[in-house]
Amino acid sequence: MKFNTAEHGYDPIAKIYNEKVAAQCFKNYLPAMEKLLLPHLDSEANLLDVGCGTGQLVKYLITKGYKVTGIDISEAMLNYARMNAPEAEFFMVSAVDLDFTSTFDGIVSTGALSHIMNIEEINRVAQNIYKALKKNGILFLNMFLEEMYQQYWSDNFYFEKNDDHVSITHTTHDAIEKIAKCNLTTFSLVEDRWKRLDMTFIDKIYTRNEIQLVLEKAGFKEIGIFDEKHDLKISEMAGSTYFVCHKM
Ligand SMILES: C[S@@+](CC[C@H](N)C(=O)[O-])C[C@H]1O[C@@H](n2cnc3c(N)ncnc32)[C@H](O)[C@@H]1O
Repeated sequence: MKFNTAEHGYDPIAKIYNEKVAAQCFKNYLPAMEKLLLPHLDSEANLLDVGCGTGQLVKYLITKGYKVTGIDISEAMLNYARMNAPEAEFFMVSAVDLDFTSTFDGIVSTGALSHIMNIEEINRVAQNIYKALKKNGILFLNMFLEEMYQQYWSDNFYFEKNDDHVSITHTTHDAIEKIAKCNLTTFSLVEDRWKRLDMTFIDKIYTRNEIQLVLEKAGFKEIGIFDEKHDLKISEMAGSTYFVCHKM
């Protein structure tokens, strides 16, 4: 059976994400977070991770002494998150339906919102985030924007192999429809047998201006926008972009 994120969410890929993907994602986001988020947080800050996945970032923030809540739409991802960060609180809810009021000193979201396929829902997410923040609370949002898909998702193949895992990835993007796809086939060694999984990740491609506008519409002002390659110079990943702003 072939799975895709639009129909099946992350449940089918949760184990592989937890074991093979999450640590690298966390490593990628860490330098920007240390630079743009942590200096703005009080030591007792109450934080929310929107689209927390398997909880590696939640765990890191807990070890820093913060109180952390994670939300995600995938039950299987949350099950790993609960194992990885048992001290945190987790809820299975879509960011589109998030309903907290003036609760958090900071909200983080990494690599999650591109799975929300239309701008109306992104607007709702931004409004929910704004409402959930306390006054002066900070948003740290990472999204992949057009340049990243152009650079890495233009009919590219990637191959990875280690002792118990082989993966072939084929990425494409449609510049007119603004939809990007990452077709992943993996073979994992489970009890002496190779198990195959086919999964397509489907992302909506948003521009820097669209996301800036969404945040302004929600009420955020003075939005800092930082590209990993051009502004932060912490990687070659142009288009991996951080939006940092406060609730006034
Ligand atoms: C690429 S993973 C990122 C996970 C984690 N933030 C990280 O950086 O490793 C995307 C996550 O977003 C979640 N997600 C997708 N749509 C969502 C929504 N509408 N509300 C909450 N979470 C969502 C998925 O279930 C998945 O766990």
